[in-house]
Amino acid sequence: MSSLLRKKIIVTGEDQPPEHRLARTLSWPHLVALGVGAIVGTGILTLIGVGADRAGPSVLLSFAVAGAICACAALCYAEMATMIPASGSAYTYSYAVLGEVIAWVVGWSLILEYSLVVATVAVGWSGYATGFLHGLGIDLPGWMTHGPTLAGTACDGTAQAASFGVNLPAVLIIAVVATLLSLGTRESARINTMLVLLKIATLALFVAVALPHFDAANLKPFAPFGYGSVAGACGVKHGMMGAAAIIFFAFYGFDAISTAAEETKRPERDLAIGIIGSMAACTVIYMVVAATAIGATSFTVFGKSAEPLALILRQLGQGGIATIVAAAAAIALPTVILGFLYGQSRIFLVMARDGFLPPALAQVSARGTPARITAVTAVFVSVIAALTPLDVIASLANAGTLCAFIAVAACVFVSRRRDPNAKRPFRTPLVWAVVPVAILGCLYLFGSLQTVTQVSFLAWNAVGLAVYFAYARSRAKVA
Ligand code: ALA
Repeated sequence: MSSLLRKKIIVTGEDQPPEHRLARTLSWPHLVALGVGAIVGTGILTLIGVGADRAGPSVLLSFAVAGAICACAALCYAEMATMIPASGSAYTYSYAVLGEVIAWVVGWSLILEYSLVVATVAVGWSGYATGFLHGLGIDLPGWMTHGPTLAGTACDGTAQAASFGVNLPAVLIIAVVATLLSLGTRESARINTMLVLLKIATLALFVAVALPHFDAANLKPFAPFGYGSVAGACGVKHGMMGAAAIIFFAFYGFDAISTAAEETKRPERDLAIGIIGSMAACTVIYMVVAATAIGATSFTVFGKSAEPLALILRQLGQGGIATIVAAAAAIALPTVILGFLYGQSRIFLVMARDGFLPPALAQVSARGTPARITAVTAVFVSVIAALTPLDVIASLANAGTLCAFIAVAACVFVSRRRDPNAKRPFRTPLVWAVVPVAILGCLYLFGSLQTVTQVSFLAWNAVGLAVYFAYARSRAKVA
């Protein structure tokens, strides 16, 4: 029992042997841009349609609920990241505060979050890229643009034939981003900042063009599927809270900043600014974009679209702007891949340092980047992106993230009680309310996910625990 609850004594980047030490090159503007780059992506560009389809205009409240829960989680992350300024995010905090076996479950869940977000966004980007090439008269062979499908019957009764496929554009974009990250963290952060500015300008253009068409009649009926979470056809959850569980995807990404602790010049200050600043900026952007979209056109028009913002603009007779918005969104979307691939490689790096992966993978290149683990991570997520359908992986990423958020909020609670005098450069305000809202909110959202997602999440962690007892426990450096 004691070995399951053993804890890691945190060492910072400077305590690592030189070959495992990351270069400190980032400051708070880089971190805010890294956060906004990781947060603003498929969620606001695509899932806003799915959310509206499931909740009607009350998707605005779904945004507010998911945003409020994430804001509470962000405050907890800011406290833990500045208190324990070491790479590894929720995995590291859990190892230091809650013990090894919980850290293992959290690390295993973080793989779902980070790797599956990279794969989801890469598959989504592949859809944009093939559409763009089609517009230029270039058509890739069908098997190159999607993963394989298994023979069977879809839940709506339609028969599905088996087909072979490998999503090559998705693999390509992951390879490009991984190469950039290996070349230099600061260089990656600079390119990321430029793309983030393009992404925000794109959303601002959408708002400027669509907002004048706001019509309050589009908000009625406000909640056609109610305010709860009701299971409909194919196990899909409708209603305001059902949609919040999907919209949650749009808000996370600020947590990836916490993995930059060992590459930040002044982590005690900059991590808090980066996490809270990016989350606050994105909440404002999302509320304005969502209100504009819902008010400009009836949700029934864009609810089922794969590119809802562009479709709304076309409905308003702005076809040219719609093309610009779609193209700019596709160009800027890889910042999400960058943020999460960055985060996943740092989490694997720390797991390798801890003895859970071969230590040779923790080797840092002459440029101060963890090039080896970045390459291994890129291959790992490429296999998922090449072979898995989008809808299966996106909701599982939400489940993994919810688990990590619950763990970090629990770390704040436990460490405040156990170690009230510890140095905390950032203290979560109103902690007695923020921690319970983060934990209960995440549990509620987990309960609102589809049953198949919940079962898959539990199965993934059962495999994880089997690996822990069969392999990892005896290898832990802490032992
Ligand atoms: N928040 C990120 C997105 O919406 C994961 O793409």
